[in-house]
Formats: sequence, C-alpha cells, structure tokens
Amino acid sequence: MKKIVLLSFILSSCLLSAQQVNEIMVLADKPVCDVQPTMWGVFFEDINFAADGGIYAELVKNRSFEFNLPLMGWDEDRSNGAGRIIPTFYSPSNDANPHYVTIYIDAQSGGFNLTNEGFRGMGIKLGNQYNFSVSARVEGSSDIKLKVELLDPKGEILGGTEIRGFTSSWGQYKASFTASRTEPEAILRLFFKGKGSIDIDMVSLFPSDTWKERPGGLRKDIVQMIADLKPGFVRFPGGCIVEGRNLVNRYQWKTTVGPIEERKLIYNRWNMEIRNRQAPDYFQSFGMGFYEYFLLAEDMGAEPLPILNCGMSCQFNAGEVVPLNELDPYVQDALDLIEFANGSATTKWGSFRASMGHPEPFDLKFIGVGNEQWEEQYFERYRQFEKVLKQKYPKIKIVSGSGPSASGAYFDYAWGELKKLSPALIDEHYYMPPAWFQKNADRYDNYDRSGIKVFAGEYAAHGKDAEAPESRNSWLSALSEAAFMTGLERNAEVVYMASYAPLLAHVDAWQWRPDLIWFDNLNVTGTPNYYAQKMFSTHRGTQVIPALREGKPLTGEDSLYVSATIDKAAKKVFVKLVNTSSTIKHVRLNLLGLSFLKYGEIEILKAERLYDFNSIADPKLIFPSTRQVTVSSKKVSASLEPWSANVVVLNFKK
Ligand code: AHR
Repeated sequence: MKKIVLLSFILSSCLLSAQQVNEIMVLADKPVCDVQPTMWGVFFEDINFAADGGIYAELVKNRSFEFNLPLMGWDEDRSNGAGRIIPTFYSPSNDANPHYVTIYIDAQSGGFNLTNEGFRGMGIKLGNQYNFSVSARVEGSSDIKLKVELLDPKGEILGGTEIRGFTSSWGQYKASFTASRTEPEAILRLFFKGKGSIDIDMVSLFPSDTWKERPGGLRKDIVQMIADLKPGFVRFPGGCIVEGRNLVNRYQWKTTVGPIEERKLIYNRWNMEIRNRQAPDYFQSFGMGFYEYFLLAEDMGAEPLPILNCGMSCQFNAGEVVPLNELDPYVQDALDLIEFANGSATTKWGSFRASMGHPEPFDLKFIGVGNEQWEEQYFERYRQFEKVLKQKYPKIKIVSGSGPSASGAYFDYAWGELKKLSPALIDEHYYMPPAWFQKNADRYDNYDRSGIKVFAGEYAAHGKDAEAPESRNSWLSALSEAAFMTGLERNAEVVYMASYAPLLAHVDAWQWRPDLIWFDNLNVTGTPNYYAQKMFSTHRGTQVIPALREGKPLTGEDSLYVSATIDKAAKKVFVKLVNTSSTIKHVRLNLLGLSFLKYGEIEILKAERLYDFNSIADPKLIFPSTRQVTVSSKKVSASLEPWSANVVVLNFKK
C-alpha cells in the first residue's frame, strides 16, 4: 500500500513538473547593448576541397600541369594512335607557371587521347553550357585538331566540341557545348588528331551557370547556401592554411591575384595532414584568390576579414619563425593588402585591383594578424604588426589570436599579453564536446564589458561519428551549439563576431569533420549546425533585450537556454529558446514595454534522435518548420519540443 502511495506521488509530481510553465519576462523596451552587424559570419578555409574541387567551379584538376607530378590527374591513351606526352619547362622561365606539356602525334591515322579525371569526377548537368579553353601552340606546319568530349564512366559521350586552326604562337582557344545528360562523375577527354606536335597549358572547363554568371567563377549552389546565412563577415583564408605547414607553404595573398595563369600553385597544407585522410592530389590553384574573396564578401553584403601570416608557420607542424629583424616583408604584405582593398586606383595596389575589374574600393575594415599562434614568439611578432598598422591605418580594426584552445596556459598568457596591447578583437577557438557547449553558455557573462572584444572565430561541437562523412554533424552537436549561441548573443556587448568552422566539405574528399555545409559534385546539403547558425544569423536583431526567468537569464537551468533581441527598424522581437532535455518544456513569454501585433511565428528546429544528421541523400531530415503563435494579453505560450532550438518572431506596433 505504502509503495502504491509513493508511486502515485512520484507520478503526480512528475506530471506537475512536466506541466510546469516557465514564465519568461521579455523586457522589450530595455535594450542592454547593440548586436553588431558582424555578429554571425562565416569562416572559409580551403580544407576538405572547399576551394579547388568545391566552390571554385573549375572542373579540370591540375589544369596547368603544376602538381608535383605534372601529369597527376591526367591519363594518356595511345590506343587510337601512337602519341606521347612530355612535360617541359617554359624558356625563358616562367616562375608562376613553369610547366606546359608537349604532345607528339605520330600516327598517320588515329590520334592520341588525354583524359582528366576532375576532382573525384566532374559534376555535369543536363542542358548546362560548358566552356572549354586551352592555351596552345603547334610546332611548324603540324596539322592538329582537338576534339573535346565529356564522357560518363562507361565512356558514353555527354557533349563535346572541336577546335582547329592552332598556330605556332601561344594563343588561347575557346569552345562551348551543352551537356546532354546529368552525370556526377564525368571525365574530360582531349582527343588529338593529325600529325606533328602541340604544346598545351591551362586546360580549363567551367559551367556557364556560375554564381552571378561570372566566367571562370564560383559554384552557384554552394555560394547560394552561404549567402542564405546572410553572413555579417567572411573570414578568409583560414585557418592553418594561413600559416602553412612550413613558411614556404604559407598563404601569400599576392600570388593569388591577377591573371589566373600567373597565380603560383602550391600544395594544400591539408593534403597529407590527417593520417587516414590523405589527399596527395590536393593543391591550391588560387582560382579563388583574394580578389574573388573580396568580391564574394561584397556580393553577400558581408565584411571581409582577411587573416594574414604573422611570420610563423603552423606550430602543430614545422613551427618556423621569421627572425624579428626580417619581419618587414610580412608586415608590408598586410599594408599592401589594405591598399589592394581600399586604395584609390592611383595607388600601386589599388590600381592592380582596378585592373582586375573593381575600381571602387572594397572598404576593408578588419585585418587578422596570425591564425592560431601561441607563446611569446607570437606576441613579439604581433607587436611589430600592431605598431605599424596602427600608425599607417588607425581605423583598421586588428584581430589577434589567442592560441588553439578555449582555456589553459596558452590562452591565459595570450589574454594577459593582449591586454597590454590594443587589438580590437581577440580570436578565440574552441572545438569541444557537445556537453562543453551546453555547460558554457555563460562563458562570456563575466568578461569585462569595457575590454577588448571577442571574435569567436572557430568553434564546433565535436562528438560521435559513424561511417557516413556527414555523421559527425549530429543534431546533438547542433543543439548544443544553439544553446551556446544564446550565450554569445546575450553577451553581444563582448562578442562582436562568431563563426562556425570549417565551412565546407566534399563528401568524397574531406579531411576534417564536422563541417557546416557538405557537398558532392552536384549537390549541396546544410547540416543541422547550418540551420542552427541560420536561425541566429537571419534573426539577428540590432539590440539585446533581457529575457529572464525569476530575474535571471536561462543558461541551462532546467535544460533551457534563452536570449532575445530587438530590431527597431523592422519592428520585430526575436526570442531564441533552446530545450536540451528529452521532455517538452512549457514557456510563457511575458512581453513588457511594447505592444505587439496579435500574430507572430515560431521557427522550430528539432530531430527525432540526437544522433540524426542530414546527408546528401537525405538533406532535409533536420530542417526548420514554422508555426503561428498568438499574442494574448501581452503573453505568448509555447510548448518547446524535446531537444529543440526555436525562435519566436513577434511584430510590435509603433
Ligand atoms: O578549422 C580547421 C582548423 O582548426 C583550422 O585550420 C585551425 O585554425 C584550427 O586548428
């Protein structure tokens, strides 16, 4: 009997607590601080084939024969003739693009085939136009024709064209054709016919439906996915790629601008970095270089945030440093980049930018000095940069690093040193388990309000994974990040910028996971983490307003996380509510200080299971849905689904 009474008591108190309503006061007329337009941005690094083979729409891999092995990615086929191919060097030498290839065709009839495998194949779409180009010259009176064809894996032709009329001087030859079928893994075949020899270089194939239809441009579907986030900034080019595995391999912006055949290809530092994910064919052609980057940021209305090498290579690799008395060229690179972005067309680098097609300045406001460096060797170099930058460009905001982790000796030392200096923002990185993100929603509550601002420059919840590449982007990771992001937003007085990292990954060529957006040669998929980011970035608001239960913010109490913002111009209030528990949570928003229209909406992001994830095959398993909510007597009631991230959007009257 006693047991039954006890059981029914437990049951009824459980029912009661399940029914418990969390009264949340939203003080709409009591803004706490501004939310910076730069609050939610993106971190672009060429990792996981993000640039070549990814956003850069070039379909030919090793188009300039500059990989360590000049014929990597190419295959020759002599079955139809007796040709041969020989990589050779320009004379006089061409530093940026030293090689071309000579093809000898000896057969009286037949010819010689050269195929390019693309980046894990070439994604070809039915009805799309493809633009082929090649730089070529023929020897003497050689009579050579070139048939260009796209083939599917069975060898069936998907489209093609023919080029003839080559002369003995180098020239660029172009031809276009339309694809007759969609194929994710096509290859390109160059079929040379005739007799004699031909030199070729810069073999290129682009779809014409690039982002903004720019010739030689970016993959439209991937850019659109990023643009849909409405990012406030774009951090570029990294990441460790800034640093290089050694200094020779560092990212140097000047080699990434100008005509593409003059951009010096280097190996991608991620090619052999991860032991079980090696990609010896991963290089940087810089087709997506600094000019394209500034243009992309401009297209999306985002602030560019370039991160530059500070005279150190990656401390996880070679850890080389440039002697302090030889740092000037590195500092000069930073000054020149600012001039490239902002200088008038009469300046050296401003005129270079203008010659590339953008006479107007890009209005660069930020510059990052170093990526993820630590210890004194960083600060002694940072100090030199800061001194010169402040003197020459006092309005440019400098972003400094704080090392590779969210806490510990390097981190504390970094903050200690930086407080003696004057960066505008300190870049913090945290790749931590989901539980860390849930526990640390109050991380910035006690940061100095009048101190240096924070750039949460790289973060992601790293949890369990399975075989599918996209599996590490579980709903649990996204939910935990959403919980944490309420803390970033609530502390917008301290946190001026935040970006998930990395941004992009090819499902067949990745090195690092989780990532925000996955793609293959034809498709692109937003992860749950992407939709969580989007929930915040597209409902940013311009000021933080208090959202309190019993006078306090919710930072995980009863598994609830809440933050709120207002956009006075748009007359909207956004309340983000994250429920990390497995039960429904009832909330009532008490709207104080303003009068609201009767109807608003709630956007809900949730999954059935914590380890669910989106994949190329099932891209919308976790996808936001929207419902109407009603404002009644200045209150809005909502039942938050288990494991859900939500934003309530309300419209207020004048
Ligand atoms: O985002 C991947 C890598 O993580 C970045 O390149 C580096 O900065 C960090 O260690």
